[in-house]
Amino acid sequence: MEWESRYSERARGMKASEIRELLRLTQQPDIISFAGGLPSPESFPTVDIAEVTTHIMLTAAEEALQYGTTEGYNRLREYCAYWSKKEGIEATMDNVVITSGSQQGLDIVSKILLDPNDVVIVEAPSYLGGLGAIRAYQASFTAVKMDDEGLMMDQLEDTIKKMNHPPKLVYTVPTFQNPAGVTMIEKRRKKLVDLAHDYDFVIMEDNPYGDLRYSGDPVKAIKAFDDEGRVIYTSTFSKIFSPGMRLAWIIGHETFIRKFVIAKQSTDLCTNSFVQRILYEYCRRDLIENHINKIREIYREKRDVMLESLEEYFPEGCSWTRPDGGLFLWARVPEYIDTKVMIGEAIKERVAYVHGAAFFVDGSGTNTMRLCFSYASNEKIREGIKRLGRVIEKEIKAHKA
Ligand SMILES: Cc1ncc(COP(=O)(O)O)c(C=O)c1O
Repeated sequence: MEWESRYSERARGMKASEIRELLRLTQQPDIISFAGGLPSPESFPTVDIAEVTTHIMLTAAEEALQYGTTEGYNRLREYCAYWSKKEGIEATMDNVVITSGSQQGLDIVSKILLDPNDVVIVEAPSYLGGLGAIRAYQASFTAVKMDDEGLMMDQLEDTIKKMNHPPKLVYTVPTFQNPAGVTMIEKRRKKLVDLAHDYDFVIMEDNPYGDLRYSGDPVKAIKAFDDEGRVIYTSTFSKIFSPGMRLAWIIGHETFIRKFVIAKQSTDLCTNSFVQRILYEYCRRDLIENHINKIREIYREKRDVMLESLEEYFPEGCSWTRPDGGLFLWARVPEYIDTKVMIGEAIKERVAYVHGAAFFVDGSGTNTMRLCFSYASNEKIREGIKRLGRVIEKEIKAHKA
């Protein structure tokens, strides 16, 4: 049976992610992987989850095993509205929908807003899953650079001015960005909202890492500066609780949320009722705050171990970001090294990363790489960075020879 000609035009544009292939490879047990963005397995609160699950089965099994509303379990929606207040977001339950991971939110937002050839402005570099969701609805990308203070607003405005039509959407991961680890400063957050008003576009704020801060002062969400309902915000329990539970939430203006619910209905009818109740009970018992404090300690140490190891083992000519939170840092090697080509050598040394070019819509960033510090043990971080340092040194020597 021949399938290719039967696919919709939309599906024909969907390509297997090269990163997925790489991640499969790096699952071999003897490879030290800095490639995936996985929480540390030691961070999962398994005993508490077992206890809460038993409680739900004994007290609310009928509701937990039943279909729920598309909007999500109301108590969890209320909790998410409350949780988002610490970032300055004023929301009620009516602004919140529980989603099956924020990836689902990104897909449904793209489905609702994007027509083929609409222009979406993304960060250079940007989160691959976000790019994939946008690409699936046949929009086109324009990338704008970031520096240590996040997306560069002067460049963004210049880019918009040169466009025939303003962009439909600006997609940003403003806090401890995946992949670069940088955080947009408050001044730029306000400026972005002003630009959205002036040029009449929507902002998609994707914030999976905001609660994972290890140093520096908290920042307000972009959504906190939005008094027109132009910002759609999403956050997730994947990195602070468990990605396997697939629970996240989206916050938006009530009008937009009504449309979002209709679109979600045809996607999955409702998010998993069972895990929503487990998570809510976990939060109701105030276990989540303690848990986040615990994982912050674990990840702060891992980040520091990686930074110290980079200092010790990466050769001269390399540089890297020093993120205040999240799971990633971003390293640069000399211009003449292509990190996509180098990955083969790294795998031979049993160490893996994601080459930076994968995160750029224009294929630039060939001398960059994303390193995830949350997954490997401290010993493996040291050993892995040592091996990677050796691989880079070899490349430098080969270039000079
Ligand atoms: C920036 C960003 N957005 C969204 C997601 C998807 O998260 P979820 O597990 O909630 O679907 C990730 C996961 O790594 C991410 O890094």
